[in-house]
Amino acid sequence: MQTAATATIGSLAGLASSMMQEYDYFPEVRGRIPLELEGTLYRNGPGRFELGGVRKRHLLDGDGMIQAFDFAQGRVRYRNRFVRTRKYQAEQGAGRFVMPTWTTRAPGGMVRNVGNKIRSQAGVTVTLKNGCLYAFDEVGLPYGLDPDTLETWGERQVGPDDIHIDYKAHTKTDGRNGHWLLLGVEHGPRTWLDLVVRDGKGRQLGHQRVASPRPSYIHDWFFTERHVVILLHPVELSLPRFLSGLASFTDSLQWRPKKGNMVAVLDRAGAGSPVFLETDACFMWHSLNAFDLGDSIVADFVGYDAPDHFLGEKAAFRMIMDGKPGLQQNKGMLRRYIINVPGKCLAQDSLSEENHEFPMVDPDVAGHRHRFGHYTTAPGATVFHHGLARVDMNSGRREAVFVGDAAHLGEPVFVRDPSSAAEQGWLLTLGLDALTATSFLAVFRSDRLSDGPLARVLLTHSTPLSFHGYWHDRHA
Ligand SMILES: [Fe+2]
Repeated sequence: MQTAATATIGSLAGLASSMMQEYDYFPEVRGRIPLELEGTLYRNGPGRFELGGVRKRHLLDGDGMIQAFDFAQGRVRYRNRFVRTRKYQAEQGAGRFVMPTWTTRAPGGMVRNVGNKIRSQAGVTVTLKNGCLYAFDEVGLPYGLDPDTLETWGERQVGPDDIHIDYKAHTKTDGRNGHWLLLGVEHGPRTWLDLVVRDGKGRQLGHQRVASPRPSYIHDWFFTERHVVILLHPVELSLPRFLSGLASFTDSLQWRPKKGNMVAVLDRAGAGSPVFLETDACFMWHSLNAFDLGDSIVADFVGYDAPDHFLGEKAAFRMIMDGKPGLQQNKGMLRRYIINVPGKCLAQDSLSEENHEFPMVDPDVAGHRHRFGHYTTAPGATVFHHGLARVDMNSGRREAVFVGDAAHLGEPVFVRDPSSAAEQGWLLTLGLDALTATSFLAVFRSDRLSDGPLARVLLTHSTPLSFHGYWHDRHA
């Protein structure tokens, strides 16, 4: 008999399905799109999971595909285009996968994977700076694209050009002065952290390189007006296993909770030595935001007691590739670190024990004090979410809305309403309706979630899991 869990996973198979066609059309809109909403929502995520009879082993792995939703006068134009990375073009020509990616070795066994140089698929995040649309992976340089046509221009240098930096997909933009902060991680005999800071016009303001005390896999991080905080959770990379070609990058990672978390605190301007603090183990995909409060740093994030949904043969993100449910027993709970920098001590607090992911603040408060956090949510511990939540950090009040069990909602991108108070606006989320096997973009008021979506933009097909988005306002 099919269980509820298998039924849900089966109905969400569209998240793990490739979408090779490149579209350009005006979808049907149900409801009313606010006329003030004028601009483009860009999204990035894996668009192709298989080629030449080989399928990626993990949902979080595939060739990057940009989706664009252009909002104008209550209508929406939809487009999608693959990022023409060197990997994408070489494999298109060969008609098969030939290069290793972070969860899947290159076909051909150990001989073809010794030295395991993972190739960028430019398929995790997207951001627009100075007329260039950047698509980031977690290795190498980002790719630059034309923000109007989505044509791939090629790799773009975003830091010092005399050293190689593998940039993390998550970059940070200061909500007040527009400075752009980028983090790189180099795995080797030692693990190095590179912090690059650029001003709003793209000029480099600083670069600092810090030795990490452990070989952690990091996905996201924090910044404030004066500091950068990097959570070094105990997901450790076995370099010999990886470089020997015996295992992919993710299969060379191990969760070692007894080692606890280390938290690195850097001075954003590069003054002074980094401080390393220790606390209980928890795994973090994404930070919400952080800010300075006197001598302390307040850092909010979504943390799991263990990354069972991510690592291991039975992990949920692995098993969905075979249409099966997998392990996902730990909830993404809302946590806060309060770091006393001069006192070199860290306290932690629980903001909510409900299940969340994809945290989002108003970009205007990034790096500065926030009041509201926005998230995807679901009851229980599943990593496939069908609700949105807003948490008021002042009162602790949580408002949530759900769109039905047979649906999936992705990261809510916040768009500020200039006619409303600070941190009020709209949330744009790309969803999958499993009953119709089609995707939709839903528009919610951030301060009236329980009213349900103001509008749904109905695509004529499903789209695979899309990780992260960026809103470019036409009036900006
Ligand atoms: Fe992410």
